[in-house]
Amino acid sequence: MSGKILEKERGTVCFNGRAWEAFNRLLKELNASNIFVIVDSNTKKYCLPYFNDRISSEFNFEIIDFKAGEQHKNIDTCLTIWNDLSAKGGDRNSLIINLGGGVVTDLGGFIACTFKRGVEFINIPTSLLAMVDASIGGKNGIDLGDIKNQIGVIKPAKMVLIDTQFLSTLPKEHLLSGKAEMLKHGLIDSDLYWKSIKELEIDNQSELEERIWESILIKDKIVSQDPFEKRERKMLNYGHTLGHAIESYSLKNAATKSLLHGEAVAIGMILATYLSHQHLDFPEEKLNDVSYTLLKSYPKVQLSKEDIQKIIALLIYDKKNRSGKVMFVLLEDIGKFKVDQEVPDELILKAFEYYQGL
Ligand SMILES: NC(=O)c1ccc[n+]([C@@H]2O[C@H](COP(=O)([O-])OP(=O)(O)OC[C@H]3O[C@@H](n4cnc5c(N)ncnc54)[C@H](O)[C@@H]3O)[C@@H](O)[C@H]2O)c1
Repeated sequence: MSGKILEKERGTVCFNGRAWEAFNRLLKELNASNIFVIVDSNTKKYCLPYFNDRISSEFNFEIIDFKAGEQHKNIDTCLTIWNDLSAKGGDRNSLIINLGGGVVTDLGGFIACTFKRGVEFINIPTSLLAMVDASIGGKNGIDLGDIKNQIGVIKPAKMVLIDTQFLSTLPKEHLLSGKAEMLKHGLIDSDLYWKSIKELEIDNQSELEERIWESILIKDKIVSQDPFEKRERKMLNYGHTLGHAIESYSLKNAATKSLLHGEAVAIGMILATYLSHQHLDFPEEKLNDVSYTLLKSYPKVQLSKEDIQKIIALLIYDKKNRSGKVMFVLLEDIGKFKVDQEVPDELILKAFEYYQGL
């Protein structure tokens, strides 16, 4: 697929093609006093050499790394990096480049927005999930203990550079985790897009590239309508209310397997679609289709009654809640959403029963 550019008022998304030329041009324009590249332990190994070969030799940069994994998307990692930036002479004209998956772009974006009250940053997403979702739209943040994304700011990157070559080293389970967010884009956008993501073979590089670009456009369209998540943007949280609670629970509970973000969101989408069916008459045959499609790629996770109670208890931390009430984004049909839907606890329990019975 040829290169694409999405020019926005604040930042640009450059996709394949001549993206690295645009990147080097921007570095020249920004004329930063110093450049810091934030990586995790995996992207340091797999992505940094490729980056090194493409950044113009006229620019010097310092590397800052931390251990890969969601459990490091926290304030301790920030403290270490803020100290490192200070020690290495970071100032208000420094530039931060986040080279990695959603953990690096979320955390690195947050560091950039808070260091010296904010320095410019560029996202170079290297996982599928970060390309189609996390690096776009300006949400930057960290987890608070086990609770997902509780601390953060909204500010878009000056540039998001997407080079799909990075995906060649991404492990398969992380490709699938990213596909879950693309399936979400399908559900909130249209029957047509749902069908094309459902049928997407992630090993088919050219088809994957086309769908990545389409997903970026869908996310960008929604974010542009509502950058600060007052209304429309909430639909991007489809499946995430329960998905985040399941992910948090799986990360802290030694008895359950730790789930990747997309794996937890896939369960959250089955539950949300069941709730949509019960609460808003989402068509039954589409509920079956959604459940079947998601279960095919994301194997069922056995949850005990106690697990489910503890997951439901975590819902109080969801950022869409109002006055202590848990608010869901639900669908009347594919592409037709309703925000701020309050659902009784009994129905949430029934959704888990439905999932366990599939
Ligand atoms: N800000 C947002 O709008 C938004 C949206 C969706 C998700 N998120 C966040 O994104 C995070 C999940 O993102 P993720 O799935 O990218 O997780 P991740 O950053 O942990 O990346 C997944 C794994 O792949 C490795 N990796 C990344 N790129 C690689 C490559 N090219 N080759 C080899 N290994 C590579 C990473 O080191 C990591 O081990 C979560 O924290 C989630 O909350 C944010």
